[in-house]
Amino acid sequence: MTMTMTNLHDHVGAEVAGVNLSHPVDDTSFADIEQAFYEKSVLVFRGQDLSPDAHIGFSRRFGPLEVHILHQYQLDGHPEVLVLSNKTDAEGKAIGLVDAGRYWHTDVSFTETPSMGSFLYAVEIPPKGGDTLFASQFAAYDALPKEWKSRLGGLKALHGLNKTTAPKFTDAQLALVKGVAHPLIRTHPKTGRRALYGGVFVDKILDVSDTESDDILSFLRKHWAREDFVYRHRWQVGDLVMWDNRSILHHATPFDGQYIRHMHRTTVEGEKPV
Ligand code: SIN
Repeated sequence: MTMTMTNLHDHVGAEVAGVNLSHPVDDTSFADIEQAFYEKSVLVFRGQDLSPDAHIGFSRRFGPLEVHILHQYQLDGHPEVLVLSNKTDAEGKAIGLVDAGRYWHTDVSFTETPSMGSFLYAVEIPPKGGDTLFASQFAAYDALPKEWKSRLGGLKALHGLNKTTAPKFTDAQLALVKGVAHPLIRTHPKTGRRALYGGVFVDKILDVSDTESDDILSFLRKHWAREDFVYRHRWQVGDLVMWDNRSILHHATPFDGQYIRHMHRTTVEGEKPV
């Protein structure tokens, strides 16, 4: 099988075909996949049949995996796999996170070293809805007017978590999450490209007045997910989609709850944004 890559959008995403992720990928193909991942920010592999071990094995080649703080939604026997699902168990209890990420965000940006990459595998999907949107933050940075590039350069934002952004967290889990400051513009460690680094977890811009913080955030909230930066992924069973949280904001969309949407997610550890 020959591996091919097809762009999905002007700014973001490529579909990789001719790769069977249920077996270890050879080193040459892996190097091409890795390079494309850092450049395109989102890679889509269709028609995969991934066991949790194969999913973990492929993700782990990009770095150590994280174990999500919500222990109740880890896949049995595979704590590295977080279940996103509206299925319930025999007692009617949710077996996964039901409505994860229905806002523009980059994964766990409220931590010192937010996730590098996320790998989401579609086990069961509804006939419509439940798409995931991906906004290129390379493109968002590039499109900033010159005066905004210099206004934002050097500024940091405070990222936090609260009952609105994390309704499933207990008070004890929320108390573990202290706010953290990250640069508003970060440099991708592999490509050297600059990307906006924001999203819903940003509470305020630091070291400016409250009025200026509000002014900057109201501009950025309209800018960072501009339609022309966004690729919409329409899921099929067997899709593995991986995204680079350092250059992407993503947003899950709703679906009719009479249908099942059942996904497995792994995440690779990241570094401190600079
Ligand atoms: C997420 O990881 O934010 C969830 C994405 C999705 O379920 O589409």
